[in-house]
Amino acid sequence: MAVYFLVKGKQRIKGRIMINGAKNSAVALLPAALLTEETVKIENLPQITDIDKLLDIMRALGASVSSPGDHSLCIDGANVNNYSPPGMLVNQLRASYYLMGSLLGRFGRVEIPMPGGCDLGPRPIDQHIKGFSAMGARVEMEHGLIKVLAKKLRGAHIYLDVVSVGATINIMLAAVKAEGKTIIENAAREPEIVDVANFLNAMGAQVRGAGTDVIKIQGVKKLYAVEHSVIPDRIEAGTFMIAAAATGGDVIVEGVIPKHLEPVTAKLKEVGVEVESGPDYLRVIGRENLSPCDVKTFPYPGFPTDLQPHMMVLLVKAPGISLVTENVFERRFCHIDELRKMGAQITLEGRTAIIEGGRELSSAPLQAMDLRGGAAFIIAALMAVGDTIINDVKYIDRGYERIEERFLEVGVNVQRIEELD
Ligand code: UD1
Repeated sequence: MAVYFLVKGKQRIKGRIMINGAKNSAVALLPAALLTEETVKIENLPQITDIDKLLDIMRALGASVSSPGDHSLCIDGANVNNYSPPGMLVNQLRASYYLMGSLLGRFGRVEIPMPGGCDLGPRPIDQHIKGFSAMGARVEMEHGLIKVLAKKLRGAHIYLDVVSVGATINIMLAAVKAEGKTIIENAAREPEIVDVANFLNAMGAQVRGAGTDVIKIQGVKKLYAVEHSVIPDRIEAGTFMIAAAATGGDVIVEGVIPKHLEPVTAKLKEVGVEVESGPDYLRVIGRENLSPCDVKTFPYPGFPTDLQPHMMVLLVKAPGISLVTENVFERRFCHIDELRKMGAQITLEGRTAIIEGGRELSSAPLQAMDLRGGAAFIIAALMAVGDTIINDVKYIDRGYERIEERFLEVGVNVQRIEELD
């Protein structure tokens, strides 16, 4: 079945939207739930295909999953007795790497293939491995399988060579039940890391310093049942904020933590968009005359790489030259060729995209190639003259819950079309 979006051009976003739970928290919280034999309840989970796949893997390991409500799940890991997640499923999503930390923490061993995920250039996991090894685990690569074995995990002092969200969380997961104290230096500071630390602490762990670049974890013997609600998704919120800015619209994103969106808010103001901030909402009022600006992606609290494609689309509208530099992922520029098809003037020099803004986009058939780039195409299509088709929406469904319905909530028509091949 071919599934694509048909997007009518020249539509303005207008209205309010309640933001869902954060994908990047949720995909770590679920594996973290396996660190206890007791039942864990997680609320405010987004309904996205990455979560579906992760749950399939956890069920295959022996976990029981029930759903007391639309966006909540109970996970009972008492019968998990398998430390070897099925390769076919693991290959389909990046976040399956969190099962390394959680299964290692629970059983002292895990055997897992290299995780899949969006193609954003090389995505090594050497820092995860370095952390596990420092804690006394033996790591072997055999026939494409990563085998990690530790008779006893011991706390260690780990300095990360690169600031990595995945490695920071994975080491935290392995360390919470290790013997003694683990210190992660040069840790990533993303809000999702704080959410995972809060979850683990509510289970009885002792994690201090999450949200700073030094995280200290004192190992405990046992973790317990917990109820937790996932923090709001700053990337989903940023998507609608940028969409409002790009379409000259007016949107209120509700249920957000405005602090998490400061890097985005600052850039929107710089291009001349009005942003009002409330205790748990942000309002973005688009303007017709935008100014160009330079954007550099960095780990949090820098501008998020996950909103780089969206921001690039917005800057296509701003007359003048804007520079977008991607510092987190080497090759996160797949969207440029597709935007060029729509008439965008973008050239790439190394890690910097040079955007000659101020041109009107026109519709063209687009191919989504990764999650965030795919979502940015919807914004481009809303700005363009004519109707745009976006193919391979499966990438977008990985991380946005029924995005076409969400766009409908803010008054624009994005049609999901399913055709038999
Ligand atoms: C996570 C997010 C992703 C986001 C990214 C950066 C999840 C599931 N995904 O991805 O949405 O775009 O953070 O904010 O939360 N690196 C190494 N060695 C390692 C680990 C990472 O060299 O062992 C490099 C990566 O190649 C990349 C950089 O470090 O260049 C940052 O990657 P990392 O923060 O680990 O990203 P992910 O956890 O994969």
